[in-house]
Amino acid sequence: MMNDQLPPPATREELKKIAIRAAWAAGSILEEHARHGFRVEHKDSVNLVTDADRRAEEVIIHTIRMEYPTHQVLAEERGLQAQDQSPFKWVIDPLDGTTNFAHGFPAYCVSIGLEHQGRGILGVVFDPTRQELFVAEADRGAFLNGTQIHVSRTPKLDAGLLVTGFAYDIRESSNNNLDHFARFALRAQGLRRTGTAALDLCYVAAGRFDGFWELRLHPWDTAAGALMVEEAGGRITDFKGGTFSIYGQEIVASNGFIHDAMLAVLSGR
Ligand code: IPD
Ligand code: CA
Ligand code: CA
Repeated sequence: MMNDQLPPPATREELKKIAIRAAWAAGSILEEHARHGFRVEHKDSVNLVTDADRRAEEVIIHTIRMEYPTHQVLAEERGLQAQDQSPFKWVIDPLDGTTNFAHGFPAYCVSIGLEHQGRGILGVVFDPTRQELFVAEADRGAFLNGTQIHVSRTPKLDAGLLVTGFAYDIRESSNNNLDHFARFALRAQGLRRTGTAALDLCYVAAGRFDGFWELRLHPWDTAAGALMVEEAGGRITDFKGGTFSIYGQEIVASNGFIHDAMLAVLSGR
């Protein structure tokens, strides 16, 4: 449909190769720190960062910059580094699931998304604990370790396994998702909080979860995972069913079948 806006196939292959190389390199650094230790700092009372986050981010940016020195880069720990007026923008979370990582709970990943003229065209998410590599490309599908993945076919919310998360301002904001969490707990077959939004989205894409919602995520949490869900045949919107943006405040991602029922619960019904 929007094929004409996509870069040429050879360029896309090259971009994918570099993104995967960066994700693998960052994953190795995370696992090295998981085995040998890391320093933890507090960004605030509940939001942590480790030297593993920072080193993984450095290797990703370095890998990208070596090939594409003019591309824009938005990375969680360093912020936006805009170069020229490049149509390409990389959106990077070097370690999604830092709290899990810091506690030795093996649920975390590297997430790398790529926008071209504002459209998400590539998503790479690597879980180094399970050696699972998720890759999505615009109009080309979503893949787990090279095998195409699809969302589930669970038809009803009460048969669905859902997942969500909580923003770091949970103690300060009354709009903290606890009300939605309580309602969904009574409506779904099961409800989980894994602590890694990027993997949650990949699991929706792979049919392991049927639906996901969260508030106040950042672009680096969702850039790769949102494309994964779309390319796996899922639906992704804001809480009112409107267009989803990685720069927005709300996300609902599902297999499509249970989406309207999820929106109804989120609207208080
Ligand atoms: C966090 C995780 C978590 C979500 C938080 C995110 P981080 O990212 O994705 O699942 O609930 O809102 O901030 O800090 O581990 O990169
Ligand atoms: Ca994150
Ligand atoms: Ca992070």
